[in-house]
Amino acid sequence: MLQTICYVSNSSPNLTNKELQELLHSTKENNLKLKISGVLIHNNGNFFQIIEGLQKNIEALYRKIMIDKRHHHVIELINQPIKQRVFRDYETSFSIIDNSEKMQKLETYLNWLKNAEMKSINKLIKVTENFIYTKNDLLQHSNY
Ligand SMILES: Cc1cc2nc3c(=O)[nH]c(=O)nc-3n(C[C@H](O)[C@H](O)[C@H](O)COP(=O)(O)O)c2cc1C
Repeated sequence: MLQTICYVSNSSPNLTNKELQELLHSTKENNLKLKISGVLIHNNGNFFQIIEGLQKNIEALYRKIMIDKRHHHVIELINQPIKQRVFRDYETSFSIIDNSEKMQKLETYLNWLKNAEMKSINKLIKVTENFIYTKNDLLQHSNY
């Protein structure tokens, strides 16, 4: 059975840029190996992540993520079984979003998904857009 989890969190203030880059790199590598699709956005001190894959893999990974000291205040937004993956065919199936160009690509993909009118993923689209648009508002003055 397939499962998806989506959460938002605050990155640790002690996390150096080098540590962040290592985390993003190993995350992508591990997820591709475990066939976990989704996105990880790091933006202005926040993480937003969607992971999707086999239920046992997703639950095991989420248990690790929740206790990871590199972030805190994990707020779960979605945790549910799914019939099909949303990010299987997006970019490399698991994508790191850490610049405005990648963010714009994700917005375009979300718009495309909206037109596909898959009701079951409306909530996923909404929470992702909320995160992106809140960040865009905040970042308009910081030249993200
Ligand atoms: C915000 C955040 C997101 C993470 N996402 C993933 C992920 O998608 N995949 C992954 O393998 N590890 C992810 N990690 C790292 C895991 O918490 C954990 O360190 C990693 O899976 C290695 O676990 P292991 O030491 O048991 O092999 C994330 C960590 C943080 C702080």
